[in-house]
Amino acid sequence: MRKQIIAANWKMNGTLDQAKKLLEAFANENASLTVDENKIAVFAVPAPYLLLAKDILKGSPYLEVAAQNCYSKKSGAFTGEISVEMLQSIGVKYVLIGHSERREYFNETNAFLAEKVNISLEYGIAPIFCCGEPLDIREANTQNDYVASQIAESLFQLSKIEITKLIIAYEPIWAIGTGKTASSAQAQEMHASIRATLATKYGNDVARKISILYGGSVKASNAAEIFAQPDVDGGLVGGASLNAEEFINIINA
Ligand code: PGA
Repeated sequence: MRKQIIAANWKMNGTLDQAKKLLEAFANENASLTVDENKIAVFAVPAPYLLLAKDILKGSPYLEVAAQNCYSKKSGAFTGEISVEMLQSIGVKYVLIGHSERREYFNETNAFLAEKVNISLEYGIAPIFCCGEPLDIREANTQNDYVASQIAESLFQLSKIEITKLIIAYEPIWAIGTGKTASSAQAQEMHASIRATLATKYGNDVARKISILYGGSVKASNAAEIFAQPDVDGGLVGGASLNAEEFINIINA
């Protein structure tokens, strides 16, 4: 059975006080959240709040903490970067890699993301690998090939065992923060295509084990329909994850 994962991506939002209140709201609601060993919630908080998040969520077994980024090297003279060794040392188990905002504003390429994926797995941190097409690619109807090359160029160096430790998040760029969600049919079609891409390289058994999340304007009002699709194993949620009540409803969807 594939893990169901609802991941919150706070992006660059919130002060320490706001982060504390939001995390406490989830920790306090833990008993009423529909989470268990096969259905977890992951909070990708800004780096300065990682330890705080670990601390506040420590009594909530199925609420996990993720970093929003990491660097591709183990350590050294890379001012301002965060290493996976640092993340491992504070007990962070997940890291977002290749979010479209990192690709777009920080010029992160598929080859560079492959290095980040490799080093994360080396340190036992599960990458939540983001992929997804811009609007012009969707309009040209070449999105399946576009996303397949993102996956091939950043992930196909991995072994069968390594790839099953990774989570994929499909986020069409035209749906991120725009209020425009992919329809559940569009999400399902792409998720099935991603699984087929994985199957060509690793076989069906491996492809079936990998959780693929949908991201892009997920809200409490559309979550249930999208998550009900057979190849959609949860969501990566930006804006709506900053509102405790809304995100709790998304988790319970
Ligand atoms: P959104 O962001 O939910 O605000 O569209 C999703 C994301 O960028 O991960």
